[in-house]
Amino acid sequence: MTSKYLSIASGNNQLVLANHFGSVQVLHWGAKLSPDEQFDPSWLGQVRAENDSDITGPFGLWRENSRGHTGRPSLIAHRAGLDFSPKFAVVEFSQTEERILVVGNDESAQLEIRSEFVSVGQGLFRVAQKVTNLGEGDLVINDFDCWLPLPVRAVESMDFGGKWGKERQPQRRDIQFGLWLREGREGRPGFDHSVAKLAMTRNTDFQTGEVWALGIEFSGNPKYGIEKTPTGATSIMAGTLLLPGEIILGHGESFEAPTALAGYSSEGLDGITSVFHEWIRARQDHPTKIRPRPLTLNVWEAVYFDHRRDKLDQLAEIAAEIGVERLVLDDGWFGARRDDKRGLGDWFVSSDAWPDGLNPFIEKVNSLGMEFGLWFEGEMVNADSDLYRAHPDWILHVGDRVPPEGRNQQVLDFTNQEAFDFILESVSKVLKDHNIAYIKWDHNRILVDPAHQNRPSVISQTKAIYRMFDLLRERFPGLEIESCSSGGGRIDLGMVHHAQRFWTSDMTEALERQQIQRYTQMAIPPEMLGTHISSFTSHQTARSLHLNFRGITALFGHAGIEWDVTQATTEERTQLKQWADYYKRNREFMHSGRYVRFAQPDDALFISGVIAHDRSAAILAYVAERTIDASTAPSFVIPGLDLGRLYHVRAAFPTGVPHHAKLQPWTQGVTMSGSALANVGLVAPLIAPESGFIIEISAA
Ligand code: GLA
Repeated sequence: MTSKYLSIASGNNQLVLANHFGSVQVLHWGAKLSPDEQFDPSWLGQVRAENDSDITGPFGLWRENSRGHTGRPSLIAHRAGLDFSPKFAVVEFSQTEERILVVGNDESAQLEIRSEFVSVGQGLFRVAQKVTNLGEGDLVINDFDCWLPLPVRAVESMDFGGKWGKERQPQRRDIQFGLWLREGREGRPGFDHSVAKLAMTRNTDFQTGEVWALGIEFSGNPKYGIEKTPTGATSIMAGTLLLPGEIILGHGESFEAPTALAGYSSEGLDGITSVFHEWIRARQDHPTKIRPRPLTLNVWEAVYFDHRRDKLDQLAEIAAEIGVERLVLDDGWFGARRDDKRGLGDWFVSSDAWPDGLNPFIEKVNSLGMEFGLWFEGEMVNADSDLYRAHPDWILHVGDRVPPEGRNQQVLDFTNQEAFDFILESVSKVLKDHNIAYIKWDHNRILVDPAHQNRPSVISQTKAIYRMFDLLRERFPGLEIESCSSGGGRIDLGMVHHAQRFWTSDMTEALERQQIQRYTQMAIPPEMLGTHISSFTSHQTARSLHLNFRGITALFGHAGIEWDVTQATTEERTQLKQWADYYKRNREFMHSGRYVRFAQPDDALFISGVIAHDRSAAILAYVAERTIDASTAPSFVIPGLDLGRLYHVRAAFPTGVPHHAKLQPWTQGVTMSGSALANVGLVAPLIAPESGFIIEISAA
């Protein structure tokens, strides 16, 4: 044990740990400090209470009750009721470059705990924790989470609600005394998953305020919390919910909790978004490092289960004319899958739907200059399938009980190596026999009774899907995988390492999508989120929206089309082509810059988009979601550019001019400084509700 203080930094995020009072404390998590800062134990503050009989800490990293901490401990475990209250002596507190290791040992409870903090760059730390059973009896782990203390000025939290078709709706709360605990038991993160949980200073908005974020790199059952104990100490937590008995450690065995990512920004919600986006983008195999994101057409909303070759040929031809680069054949091509009641599990091309097989169609798609993608839902099985008839015991279940069906299907037990291998081989055979560049991998129901041989198995099931994706990509280099789960039910910081794209939501209607995308992009960069233009009248809401608004909404992601374009008018097709060209011209910019959101005083209006990191350009979408309150359009400002620099500003209409638009002269082009843009602004054109336009800004 060399130093009392260890410190690592990542971007503008610094973590300082102190080894004092027999335990390791977080001395600071937040803005980067001066390099020659003199740390001092008095920084820990709060060691006395009004009533001298209170035990007030500091309590240490692992929040042991044995030190008098009355909040939720990091580790909750026992050996048949014994050794339930560990007290860890610090046996290692060391640092190698940007990595701090803290090891605790309890000789009496015979437990070892390790917490490792690693700077992964771009403003994030990864926290990896491991507990080892050094004793004889089995150790049952109930909870093993990552907790980090927050400063007292973190007084608000943000996480998300959500349901099918309405993913990630933000909810802000004041942090009050007690524990605000969010647990997911769906066996997947779910529609309401907070990709990262946020704590904020008062009135934090998109541009201002301090934000502390914690997210787990895992796609199983999530767990997030914020706790304020009677001492006033507040902490944030992320982990995975462990089912009873899911983790039982024999002598010498260890459990590694899913890693957590801790971020900090002093630049509001956009600042923390940028931290996550830039970290995801810095990875070696980030999809945009390989090539620009291909414009996609998915046939689902065009044909559903009705796979007729003539119709699909026609769709492919029109798609190619528009400029689509990847065509995806969705559900319905395999086994007896003519509707959603049968066939899941039988991954061979249906001779009924595809008498000549898929290859002639794939060749046609390829000859039109597009690559081909195919839908799978490999973790699932319909009772009415050859697979289920042969292996009814291959599903997740408890005892003789068959779980309730969800969407007429059950979940295969991927911890069962035979079931896993069977699916791996059947999917591999399809990929081997066809020219498939991309798969959309779905997961359309929650896990109920998730057991392998009667033991809870969400963690092993989750690791198995990672293994499946990794093996498929190893076998078929260049294959891209989209993670879909009834839309956005499996979008998280674990899956970003195994899938290259997420289907953001089954809600393809643009008005609803505005909000879903705005917040799903909180931690996931737009190039990983599928955003498709669907039909004039939405299949989900029956609301009709003009192409202008649908196009603008679908532009800022991995763009595509989910619409029977054989029914589109000639004018609509021309506009779609213009839109496709616009996307292709600008996608590299939109998939690399800083994502910004500017809330407007009239909340019918919203501006969002991308500003180049060197502030030389911006592409922003101005949208009117509803009618505005005033009779004339308000002005808007664009902060975040170089104040002293001159910029050309103009409007663009890649999918047509909004209805009833009363355009302003500046929309043709105006030159102003970054300072004038930030302080004076421009008067917006008056536009119809449910419409929008693009603001293009480039340095003069
Ligand atoms: C899920 C997906 C859809 C589509 C259907 C096919 O609902 O989210 O996009 O693939 O399954 O059954």
